[in-house]
Formats: sequence, C-alpha cells, structure tokens
Amino acid sequence: MRIAVCGKGGSGKSTISALLAKQMAKTKNVLVLDIDESNYGLHSQLGLAAPRDLMEYFGGKKGFKEKQRAAPKQTQFWGLAAENNKGQPVQQQSRFFKERWSFSDLPPEFVEEKGNLKLMAVGKIKDYGEGCACPMGVLTREFLENLDLGKDDFVIVDTEAGTEHFGRGVDKDFDLILVVVDPSYESLKLSKKFDEFGAQCGCGVYFVLNKVEPDVREEMLASVNCVNVVAEIPARRELFKASLKGEELDLDLEEIAKLAEFLEKAGSLTH
Ligand SMILES: Nc1ncnc2c1ncn2[C@@H]1O[C@H](COP(=O)(O)OP(=O)(O)OP(=O)(O)O)[C@@H](O)[C@H]1O
Ligand SMILES: [Mg+2]
Repeated sequence: MRIAVCGKGGSGKSTISALLAKQMAKTKNVLVLDIDESNYGLHSQLGLAAPRDLMEYFGGKKGFKEKQRAAPKQTQFWGLAAENNKGQPVQQQSRFFKERWSFSDLPPEFVEEKGNLKLMAVGKIKDYGEGCACPMGVLTREFLENLDLGKDDFVIVDTEAGTEHFGRGVDKDFDLILVVVDPSYESLKLSKKFDEFGAQCGCGVYFVLNKVEPDVREEMLASVNCVNVVAEIPARRELFKASLKGEELDLDLEEIAKLAEFLEKAGSLTH
C-alpha cells in the first residue's frame, strides 16, 4: 500500500511519517520515500544516515532530463492506459526503469535501512540556481508506478508542504492520503481543500490531527471532516526537542500504534 503524508508546512508530516514508519516496521516491510526536495532532516528522525538521491541513479537531474527528452511520450508510464489488439489493458514500459521493481530490487546504494525499515530520497535541491524540482516530481511518479508491492509492503511518502500533488493528480501514485492538520487557522482551512480533492481523486483522504492539546481539540474537530479523522496525536515536548537537536524520534505513542493498525487493515483490504 502506498500512503502519502500531506499537509501544510510545519504541520508535522515528517514527524508523523517517521513515527508511523517505525511503528509499522515492527510487523511490516516499510519503505519511507522522502520526496521533499527542500528539507533534509527526515533521515535523522528515523535514526538513519541520509540516503543518496535516487536521481543520481539516472545520471542526476541533467541525465534524467536527457532521458526524459529522448523517450517517446506514449511510453511515459507503466500505466494501464494502453490496450492490446483484443482491447485488454496492457502495462506500458517505463521510460526510465528497464524492469519492474519490488522491495528486494531497490538498489542498495540508494537505500538506508535498519530491520524492516528502508529509507530512500528522490532528490534534494543542492546547488544555487540548479533549476526547478519538476524532474523530482516525474521520477517520484514513475518510481511509484514501477514498484510492485506484496501484501505486507507499505510505502510511506513524506511529501513537501502544500497541495501541488493534487494539482497534478495523485490517484495513480497513492492508495491512501493522510493529511496532517495542526492547530492553526491555515492548516484547518487547507484541510477543507484536501477534503474537496479527496472527493475528486478516487483514493481515500484521511485526517491526522497533530499537536493536539485539550483546549484546542474541539475546535480542530469542528473544523475538519470529523468522519475521516483517523488519529489525534498529542503535542509532545519530547518530539519538539528531538527535532531541535536532529535526534531520532524514540517515542511509542498509543495513538500512532492505532493509526498503524488502521492502515494495516486498509492495506489488507486493498491488496
Ligand atoms: N506532536 C507533536 N508534538 C510536538 N511537536 C511536534 C509534533 N509534531 C511535530 N512537531 C514539531 O513541529 C515542527 C514541524 O514538524 P515537521 O518537521 O514534522 O513538520 P513538516 O510538516 O514535515 O514540515 P515541512 O513542511 O517543513 O516538511 C518540528 O519542530 C516538530 O518537532
Ligand atoms: Mg517535512
């Protein structure tokens, strides 16, 4: 199952992704895919070294763009859009991947791991004036569409802030979206937008209230789509302090365990 973790900047996407991944890796195979090209700290929250950018596997942004230009448009994705002469859907060859990958095929030099937990990063902005991050978006999509998952395999995708993915259409990339909402006017307002997108995109959109404290809980619940709130994560000083020091998040939260259970159940239904 491919899970996207979305939300406003600073709402806690990376914190929730890391806590969730560590919890789920106790029983499942988990790949955390870091697609936030402008933040550099997710690996430390997981207690791992920073992985090499997957973009380098394709010759860096430059090499990737050249491959992109050279590839004919109709072989853009592995999608099921094409049909054979009997009118049955067939998978199209990816422009970039010679064959389909499963967790065991991931190139080890681009994966940091411990136990059942793997971490990969699509690509980071490294140099002044290096150009836009669009190739990272293309690679993310192709990677996710090229990945075959077993029933115990989960991909948790830590996204960059905002709604850009929804603008591009996300239903092919993800099976489920978790929107992290913190107690701020902007975040609560944005949750309505995510709810609207959810109705259009064909994959379930669920809300995780984060940094919840007793005196703001009711107001947060009243502002989001209550039916789809699947977790309420308390504000915890330990999390804040660990992030200040760039330390691994080492906190077992009952609320995260319950969220993991919900996702595992959802995964078993979709597989
Ligand atoms: N439940 C929580 N309790 C206390 N602090 C939290 C909690 N969740 C997140 N934080 C803090 O909020 C800040 C932002 O968290 P985080 O980096 O996870 O957000 P983000 O949404 O990934 O941000 P960005 O949009 O920059 O990627 C950090 O200081 C983090 O420690
Ligand atoms: Mg983040």
